[in-house]
Amino acid sequence: MDRRDRLIARARQGFRLAYGVEPTRFYAAPGRVNLIGEHVDYNDGFVLPCAIDRETIVAAGPPSPQTKDKLFEAVALDMGEMASARDRFDLVAPIRPGDNNWQNHVRGVVQGLGRYGHRVRPMRIAIAGDVPIGAGLSSSAAFGVAVALACSEYSGLDLAPAMLAKIAQLAENDFVGCACGIMDQMAAAAAQADHALLLDCRSLEHMAVPIHKSLAITVIDTGLRRSLTESAFNQRRAECEAVAQHFGVKALRDLDFGKLLLAEPDLDHTLFRRARHVVSELDRVEPVGVALARGDTAQLAQVMREAHLSLSEDFDVSLPPIDRLAQMVAEAIGDAGGVRLTGAGFGGCLVAVARHESGPMIDDAIARYNAEADLPARAENFRAVGGAAPIPID
Ligand code: GLA
Repeated sequence: MDRRDRLIARARQGFRLAYGVEPTRFYAAPGRVNLIGEHVDYNDGFVLPCAIDRETIVAAGPPSPQTKDKLFEAVALDMGEMASARDRFDLVAPIRPGDNNWQNHVRGVVQGLGRYGHRVRPMRIAIAGDVPIGAGLSSSAAFGVAVALACSEYSGLDLAPAMLAKIAQLAENDFVGCACGIMDQMAAAAAQADHALLLDCRSLEHMAVPIHKSLAITVIDTGLRRSLTESAFNQRRAECEAVAQHFGVKALRDLDFGKLLLAEPDLDHTLFRRARHVVSELDRVEPVGVALARGDTAQLAQVMREAHLSLSEDFDVSLPPIDRLAQMVAEAIGDAGGVRLTGAGFGGCLVAVARHESGPMIDDAIARYNAEADLPARAENFRAVGGAAPIPID
């Protein structure tokens, strides 16, 4: 049994245990790792994530015969005891947030579909996943997009990937309380296998950028997690919006670098640094996309180093041990690839895009780091996979 088969078996068994019958359909959506364009999605900029071979699977089936006409039922198999990870709500009454995050992803998706005029049929679902939670690999976008696909497809709706992404984002913004952008959900919904997704977060236009076959994508989990991530994230977003307002532009995407530099004396220094990260990061997306397609590792090394420094020094979302590990890995691989903090930050993961032969050097650097670190870091290679889709099961 491979990884996905085990996950399907878990979702199937969880469904059977919760509801006493077999599920009839299965749906999946992947996690993602962002290669470049960090904290720019909610500033309307360009990003370059790729979907990874870790995912959320939703098993779905008809409602219970007793409650047929109006109930939606869900069980989350990775969230604590079975009893505390069940939810049911009335599809006819207004849908309100529940007590915890996973319920709110589900309720928010069903409510979001309704807001776009789509009716969800009464149904039951069981959700299982293997995207690590809290590591910066977007387990929540995988969860939200998989649920959005399950609810819509099961209800006979054929929604475009961008619509699934918007609905999952709405759930996160309005029901979970995280002011996230659209990058993670778009990666989970619209990515293509063996490619990264170059996404314009303003128009949602996107194109697939091939990942050169000489390159491996390695995610290095530092094991570090900072608490209050959501409030710090929302604060960063508010800071960016304050700068955009200061300059009278719709979003920081519209801010000229020269104008920002000229205004430094008038701006609060923290706000200036936040904007300098975003505006400089916008210029790093295209070079990384080109280097990724060409296998130009010297370019990746340089631009990803700058990106990491900018996240650490201007956006303040790194931590000293993460900076140290990033530096050790960068020195180990040299011009054979790049490494930087990925995702929201505040702990989490580094991503390295480097020649396959650099694997042992990355491992050596991590071993040296682990010899002195409080928490061991761990590296894993991921394949770039396609976005959300139903799983054909016979
Ligand atoms: C989180 C958010 C995304 C994005 C990244 C930072 O993953 O969910 O929308 O803002 O952080 O690039």
